[in-house]
Amino acid sequence: MSVAVIGANGQLGTDVVEEYQRVGEETAGLTHADIDISSLESTRSVLNDIRPGVIVNTAAMHHVENCEKEPLRAYEVNALGARNLAIVARELDAKLVHVSTDYVFDGAKRQPYVEEDRAAPLNVYGNSKLAGEAFLQGSAEKYFIVRTSALYGKSPCRAKGGRNFVDMMLKLASERDELRVVDDEIVSPTSTAELAKQIVILSRTNHCGMYHATAEGSCSWYEFARTIFEITNTKVNLKIAAPNEFPAKVPRPKYSVLENQGLKKLGLNSFASWHEGLQAYLSTNGLHSKQAGTS
Ligand SMILES: NC(=O)c1ccc[n+]([C@@H]2O[C@H](COP(=O)([O-])OP(=O)(O)OC[C@H]3O[C@@H](n4cnc5c(N)ncnc54)[C@H](OP(=O)(O)O)[C@@H]3O)[C@@H](O)[C@H]2O)c1
Repeated sequence: MSVAVIGANGQLGTDVVEEYQRVGEETAGLTHADIDISSLESTRSVLNDIRPGVIVNTAAMHHVENCEKEPLRAYEVNALGARNLAIVARELDAKLVHVSTDYVFDGAKRQPYVEEDRAAPLNVYGNSKLAGEAFLQGSAEKYFIVRTSALYGKSPCRAKGGRNFVDMMLKLASERDELRVVDDEIVSPTSTAELAKQIVILSRTNHCGMYHATAEGSCSWYEFARTIFEITNTKVNLKIAAPNEFPAKVPRPKYSVLENQGLKKLGLNSFASWHEGLQAYLSTNGLHSKQAGTS
């Protein structure tokens, strides 16, 4: 098979391209300059030239505040983009792997969400991604929807700009005596390198459908920061942020832990715990024993 990866210079797309190449697949990495998924014409013409057997869509508009400010654009990319890819994938008889989000849930369950749980997004971003999922379910034939959470990887997240949470914490710790981080948002921090491996594994099967795909276990952002500093032996005075110290500009789920139920049922779940994923990220990127700051 040959593979086309959309969003190839993004945080996740970079690792997805590398993983397909590592396992020997002929891989075309497409950036926004190469293809605009919000245009059916662009999507059809670029993918018709490549004629891939597998299309992986990591592209999205996912800056939550910007989606709220520009809802039309968010729907064009996240919903119509998914529809355009579903149409072209069907025309080419290609498999379509589409990355979605934990933000389709409202967080009220307070227990890990499984694929069958009712989605109830709290913001434009989550709603536009949910609409994209619905287009795939309605229009694509061979599709995999892969919902994930709290990504970090070696390549910067283009939508958010600059550093991921891990690198940002280490930078701030080297600049400040004290850091305060929220303890009331629970996630499963997931390494893009681990997710890329899972996407390759899944796309080589014919088990199409909806999948949750995150690192095992969960933590608050405060606990995640504390673990980053423990592993890297970083000395900083880390505190829990006061309630409403960092008020969210846009409503977000306070709890968005996903259970990889579908992958586990098939014996395909390749994720380790978020702790192990973090250790691997820090050691691969030479940050394992860094002394980033003192208090
Ligand atoms: N980051 C997270 O914490 C997180 C959590 C859960 C789910 N997700 C999902 O995971 C996926 C990957 O996220 P990421 O962190 O890798 O994002 P990212 O670094 O921002 O990469 C997104 C890529 O999409 C491209 N893109 C945007 N609009 C496009 C369009 N209309 N046509 C073609 N390409 C377009 C961007 O290019 P330009 O920058 O040049 O526009 C960029 O290369 C997304 O589907 C996101 O919704 C992310």
